[in-house]
Amino acid sequence: MAVVSPRLLLFFCLSSWIVIWRAPSGDAWGKEGHIMVCKIAELYLTEKTAEEVRDLLPETAGGDLSTVCPWADEVRFRYRWSSPLHFVNTPGVCNYKYSRDCHNPHGEKGMCAVGAINNYTEQLLDIKDPSNHYNLTESLMFLAHFVGDIHQPLHAGFAADLGGNTIVVHWYKRKSNLHHVWDVEIIDTAMHEFYSDDLDSMVEGIRLNITGEWSTEVDKWKTCSNKRATCANDYAIESTHLACKYAYKDAEQDSTLEGNTDEYFFTRLPVVKKRIAQAGLRLALILNRIFDGEKSREIQSI
Ligand SMILES: *[C@@H]1O[C@H](CO)[C@@H](O)[C@H](O)[C@H]1NC(C)=O
Ligand SMILES: *[C@@H]1O[C@H](CO)[C@@H](O)[C@H](O)[C@H]1NC(C)=O
Ligand SMILES: *[C@@H]1O[C@H](CO)[C@@H](O)[C@H](O)[C@H]1NC(C)=O
Ligand SMILES: [Zn+2]
Repeated sequence: MAVVSPRLLLFFCLSSWIVIWRAPSGDAWGKEGHIMVCKIAELYLTEKTAEEVRDLLPETAGGDLSTVCPWADEVRFRYRWSSPLHFVNTPGVCNYKYSRDCHNPHGEKGMCAVGAINNYTEQLLDIKDPSNHYNLTESLMFLAHFVGDIHQPLHAGFAADLGGNTIVVHWYKRKSNLHHVWDVEIIDTAMHEFYSDDLDSMVEGIRLNITGEWSTEVDKWKTCSNKRATCANDYAIESTHLACKYAYKDAEQDSTLEGNTDEYFFTRLPVVKKRIAQAGLRLALILNRIFDGEKSREIQSI
């Protein structure tokens, strides 16, 4: 698959506009972001983990985890209590603190994405416990989704603007909001411009970066010394930092994000791709720990 180097393209587009034609699409890290995260994760599951995951998936998944990764967004309104589990928010500061920030609007502690990732991990760890009455199919589908969400920087943004949802921006002739730009637009634009609108090609591009350009960082991404709880809290802290450094930066109310140079797109796309890669690898890590003890599949072996 031919992939145009963003840097090369930036060179050609510095003083012109790229006109981008595409159909409106998508909702929440959008569907595509979640599917990509889970497709990456699937590459790094051990045999045993993959088998246990397949056993828990609903019939309709056809044995493919990635098909159920957007599910949590679909039940967000049916399961109203689950709505605050898709994100964490800070009181307008560039650091995230569990004790201060992880709660729902009623002030219930733990009702945020970090709490949920640990909650569903616990439930799955107790799979063999006969007194475990949780629906573990749902636990798996929630876990896979929330590990994706916590890596989207604006799922750890500021409470006052609802993680960028109230910041109206223009994205290549379309009206959007900053949160949606990070959930959907950057991914859609990249997929259209560089991957012939093919999700699998974009996943392959990200996979190649994991074994290539990012290979020296990957061990650090996977580091997590917590035994039972996950390292979701650290992922939230990273996201908040990225929200301040990249998402909110140069994105004021009513701004035209593409500007004249497409700079916002070209400088944020690598962040989005890396977060998808990290989410996928870390989801695999969590699932391997749950279902196959401490084992994790070597990155190099793929
Ligand atoms: C990822 O790989 C592509 C080539 O497929 C390369 O152009 C790009 O610079 C790499 N890095 C990032 C951060 O996307
Ligand atoms: C934990 O999971 C149960 C079952 O889905 C749910 O009722 C509860 O609200 C969850 N709590 C958190 C913090 O995710
Ligand atoms: C578990 O949850 C799934 C998805 O919501 C549902 O289809 C299934 O019927 C549930 N299983 C049980 C035993 O309730
Ligand atoms: Zn979500």
